[in-house]
Amino acid sequence: MKFDRHRRLRSSQFMRDIVRENSLSKNDLIYPIFVVEAPDIKKEVSSMKGVYQISLNRLEEELHEVVKLGIKSVIFFGVPNEKDAVGTGAYDENGIVQEACKLSKKLYPELLVILDTCMCEYTDHGHCGVINEETQDVDNDKSLPLLVKTAISQAKAGADIIAPSNMMDGFVSEIRKGLDKNGFEHIPIMSYGIKYASKFYGPFRDAAESTPSFGDRRTYQMDPANRLDALRELESDEREGADMMIVKPALSYLDIIRDVRNNSNLPVVAYNVSGEYSMTRNAVDLGLLDEEVIMEQMLSMKRAGADLIITYFAKDLCRMIDEGEGN
Ligand code: PBG
Repeated sequence: MKFDRHRRLRSSQFMRDIVRENSLSKNDLIYPIFVVEAPDIKKEVSSMKGVYQISLNRLEEELHEVVKLGIKSVIFFGVPNEKDAVGTGAYDENGIVQEACKLSKKLYPELLVILDTCMCEYTDHGHCGVINEETQDVDNDKSLPLLVKTAISQAKAGADIIAPSNMMDGFVSEIRKGLDKNGFEHIPIMSYGIKYASKFYGPFRDAAESTPSFGDRRTYQMDPANRLDALRELESDEREGADMMIVKPALSYLDIIRDVRNNSNLPVVAYNVSGEYSMTRNAVDLGLLDEEVIMEQMLSMKRAGADLIITYFAKDLCRMIDEGEGN
């Protein structure tokens, strides 16, 4: 034999099927939903085709569709009527995501509800914590108690998983302590501890109406040039009690997903963020790329080591899985 015959294992669909290393299952998908406090709204987000801001009274039809398709978990983001400097809406026991969670648990108790513990959707300045007037920067330690309060209100509303995305130092340990003290020691923390300061969040900020009114998030989110920083964040979050680890964004950070997979035994979650969604969605809708690129992108995250994927494509993917397309 003068060379290796790799094509032997690619000779037919069945042959390819039995040697396949990765696949996407509906169990892997987490679907984000934007709930708005104002009534009677179902409005497409201008920068995210096929993604809507939805009022509570329109949420049932949305959840029905999600459950029917076979999605097992959703993450709610809130668009409140009012915002203030200290993000009161985030920890209001009757706040918008708390209410969405209660409704969802009432209608579909098995559907897992994940809530995002952050303040940017609820502060009038759009930052993820409270501002220190002197430095005009987010005050880490003053934000922590408010984030703990937010997480507790979310657990009280029935959230199955708490997902803090605020990037304050110590948020995992403080939230863990707060949850434990209030009888929620059984609620897992899915930490967004590896979150880059990314321009790929642009469309999300339209959807959640959470663009910072001054400055940017670079004093708390990570520098896109860094790799070791991700491993340092992973180390602290594991020590502080994280149960799962999110890497965000996903597609430009597949190396980081692999690093986390190689350095941790926690489930790894890839957040296929809004900008990644919109780029691909538009390219597919314009006919520039075949729809199968969506599955190819998901497989790249699985191959990099992701167990779960938060994606605005979850519904499309369920349909593709049902039709046996590209997977
Ligand atoms: C913060 C949060 C953001 C996203 C999820 N949680 C925005 C930000 O940090 O600016 C972005 C998700 C996406 O782009 O899809 N609460």
